[in-house]
Amino acid sequence: MTSALFQPITLGGLTFPNRIAVAPMCQYSAEDGSASDWHVYHWMNLAMSGAGMVTVEMTDVERRGRISHGCLGLYSDDNEAAARRTLDAARRVATPDAKFGVQLAHAGRKASCQRPWEGGGPLKPDQDPWPIVSASAIAYDTGWQVPHALEEDEILRLIERFAEAAGRADRAGFDFIELHAAHGYLIFQFLSPLSNQRTDRWGGSLENRMRFAVEIARAVKKAAPKLMLGARLSVKEWVDGGFDVDEAIDVAKALKAEGVAYLCCSSGGNSPHQKLPTGPGYQVHLAEAVRKGAGIPTRAVGLIDNPGQAETIVADGRADMVALARAFLADPRWGWRAAATLSEKIHPAPQLARSVTTMEHWVKKAG
Ligand SMILES: Cc1cc2nc3c(=O)[nH]c(=O)nc-3n(C[C@H](O)[C@H](O)[C@H](O)COP(=O)(O)O)c2cc1C
Repeated sequence: MTSALFQPITLGGLTFPNRIAVAPMCQYSAEDGSASDWHVYHWMNLAMSGAGMVTVEMTDVERRGRISHGCLGLYSDDNEAAARRTLDAARRVATPDAKFGVQLAHAGRKASCQRPWEGGGPLKPDQDPWPIVSASAIAYDTGWQVPHALEEDEILRLIERFAEAAGRADRAGFDFIELHAAHGYLIFQFLSPLSNQRTDRWGGSLENRMRFAVEIARAVKKAAPKLMLGARLSVKEWVDGGFDVDEAIDVAKALKAEGVAYLCCSSGGNSPHQKLPTGPGYQVHLAEAVRKGAGIPTRAVGLIDNPGQAETIVADGRADMVALARAFLADPRWGWRAAATLSEKIHPAPQLARSVTTMEHWVKKAG
């Protein structure tokens, strides 16, 4: 019997060979937004992982939209050229038919921070910090910079920045774009009634709070019509009075109407006071609720690291795909492990072919 996890899926006209995705993961290793040697290693490694969908990390549409000095961007010709070179290298070794996407983002009030291994807090005066922006002048936490509340013309300019970055993503050779509307970054800062307290057409009602996301989706679709468009959303904020599942379903419907072909259902990230109950598959119910409520294909994510668990999520129709982050860092051949566990074929690069029996042996031995 063939596994559900290894069935191909077509989203927005783009066919993925299986339902396994590498989740976007910041590497904080770029040089003024350009992919570095680290990215060559990392993308090539993920390309050989057996995942049918590889989503490149949060990639910022302007310089001040980076979380840290090491974040990836698509705001300059150099960024675009480096992304193209790196992607070409990854494609040379990739699993057959694997597709590559880039997660376009802006960190908003969570920009100008240290890399996690430097502490992760706001950049100090001697660390070359920069002024930050958001929907409203509300800091992420005490001790963090108070952002400048974007003016109408600045919002419109930012939407253009997303469109320009989408054009660069197309020219760099990506197959799809994922809009980052999760984890408390700028698009989510507009969606949340806690971080967005505007009284103009960009704040207040849900229709107004989602305007930024919807306008970005429309502009990106227009700028890169050949690329499949998806999005990642924090479906739940895990804070009293915050953004929640019912609103997320309405946002999903609106994005779907703009041509967004899948929604990756994550949660949290907009407040240090969130009460986020983690555990195996802790966000799968969110993917299930959005899939049913909005009729949009969903990707489940969050502590999914076991092939049997991933297979059940897809086979039971709780989500259309699964995305894994940390598991792919720990085991860059996780897709092979899943294939061996579920009696599916492994498709190695020829240089790695002799290790397939080793993986099959390990899986058999582990029972
Ligand atoms: C090193 C690292 C970097 C991450 N960077 C991003 C990112 O760029 N964009 C994003 O949406 N999520 C990011 N995440 C969150 C993951 O994509 C994922 O949602 C989360 O780790 C839960 O999945 P997991 O349990 O499989 O790790 C990151 C996580 C890790 C561990």
